[in-house]
Amino acid sequence: MPRVNKKDDTIFQKVANMQNSYKRVDAHLSSLGYCTRSEAKKFLNKFRVSIHGTRIFDTTQKAYHNDITVEDEPLDPESLLLLMNKPSGFICSHDDAGVLIYSLLPQRFQRRNPKIATIGRLDMDTTGAILLTDDGTLNHKLTSPKSKVSKIYEVTLAQPLKGDESEIFSSGTLLLNGEKKPLLPAKMKIISPICVELEIYEGKYHQVKRMFGAIGNKVIKLHRLSFGDFSVQNMELSEYKVINMNTKI
Ligand code: URA
Repeated sequence: MPRVNKKDDTIFQKVANMQNSYKRVDAHLSSLGYCTRSEAKKFLNKFRVSIHGTRIFDTTQKAYHNDITVEDEPLDPESLLLLMNKPSGFICSHDDAGVLIYSLLPQRFQRRNPKIATIGRLDMDTTGAILLTDDGTLNHKLTSPKSKVSKIYEVTLAQPLKGDESEIFSSGTLLLNGEKKPLLPAKMKIISPICVELEIYEGKYHQVKRMFGAIGNKVIKLHRLSFGDFSVQNMELSEYKVINMNTKI
């Protein structure tokens, strides 16, 4: 699996190892969004739910997650990690008004409990790499300022570059309005006079737009190419992938 940070390999492994809980079949099905607890009986009548390959009809029966199949398919993972190429016009918050990024996921994922949330946020008009998970610990770890995950953005600007941007951003002295501490050094690669790739290691509110705003320019288009080693290079907008936390890819 691509890394977020070298030390984060262990976070993924920990989450993967925590899977395979033992509980009632209706509890498995409802927390994974297959049906509600009260719909479980009907669900078992309609779909072939099996434990070790033997079809069951008793929703109260207990089993390990890994021993259950629905229509001969294993259950969705207990902890889900997704990589999406976010399109413009979708919001990452669960609380704000507007069209949510979660509406791009299958109904089953949308019904999961705990809910799937984005790991950090992208603005409504920003496109590109965003991770989503229902694992609160993983989310917290990867959004913590200590985590220092690399995020690479393709930035399109309103005005041509002046020439001093790279030096200012890499200096580690740029202080944004309302912040107490200067930003960590950031790396900038020039693609054209109005387009750059910017690599940052933190995730302050509207950070990239504020960085260019602070030096008299304006971001007119923002696309995140990667979050850690997770890149959306060959993915269509709105496409998402389930990341298997057990597999190195
Ligand atoms: N910086 C921004 O200004 N917006 C984003 O969506 C992400 C980083």
